[in-house]
Amino acid sequence: MVQLFDPQRRPPVFSKVPKHIAVVMDGNGRWANARGLTRTEGHKAGEAALLEVIAGAIEAGVTHVTAYAFSTENWKRSPDEVRFLMGYNKEVLRRRRDLLDSWGVRIRWAGRRPKLWPTVINELLEAEKRTRSNSRLTLTMAVNYGGRQEILDAVNRMADEVSAGKLKPGSITEKTMQRFLYVPELPDVDLFLRSSGEMRTSNFLLWQSSYAEMMFLPTLWPDFTRETIWEAIDSFANRDRRFGQATDAPLN
Ligand code: IPE
Ligand code: IPE
Ligand code: MG
Repeated sequence: MVQLFDPQRRPPVFSKVPKHIAVVMDGNGRWANARGLTRTEGHKAGEAALLEVIAGAIEAGVTHVTAYAFSTENWKRSPDEVRFLMGYNKEVLRRRRDLLDSWGVRIRWAGRRPKLWPTVINELLEAEKRTRSNSRLTLTMAVNYGGRQEILDAVNRMADEVSAGKLKPGSITEKTMQRFLYVPELPDVDLFLRSSGEMRTSNFLLWQSSYAEMMFLPTLWPDFTRETIWEAIDSFANRDRRFGQATDAPLN
């Protein structure tokens, strides 16, 4: 049972807290195989890790978490694993939406419709509907999500508006682009966190992460706890985010 505000586990005081954390939940398969289990057992163990991370994020004051659950490239996996992941995503949403709702979490979906199981889409839309008035933390589930695909989908919709005379060519700005993303309200990513030691984005939130602090932890996703996320936030607080600026400070 994952508890929010567990009195035995209090977060440290942070000097700075990221508003938006993007998490690539990676390493489930390796976690399971190392224990002599099949990959699906690793995905099952990842459920509690996600709840822990959400609880830890709320307790730290983070307002947005975006979790990479299934990429547009994950269709390349075995039919069995794909089937399991589709069913499991649906099941977790259904099983956990009330708990998340009671925590004040607003659930959103970022991803593409084509190929995604209609039952998964329905579950995502139902979770969005039920939690739409919550505002403590927005959890965006990236399911059938690809960063390039998101940009392409936006570009194609903008092109439609241009040809319908609703958008003036030559007037498209970063703000316009933002309006056409899957979840336009999502702020830029402050902390991009990946588990399992892999050091790549794997097509996650390309537009939104242009100035994110990148962090790659060796811990496998099923081993993530709220303490892991607190350590990451603490280390984020010590990063010097310059956004292109510079300060002259020669040593005497
Ligand atoms: C992440 O764990 C979960 C998904 C991609 C759905 P993996 O399944 O990628 O686990 P590894 O990376 O093979 O260990
Ligand atoms: C990224 O992990 C996708 C998700 C966590 C959902 P992958 O395990 O699919 O990424 P690669 O194949 O190592 O790049
Ligand atoms: Mg992986």
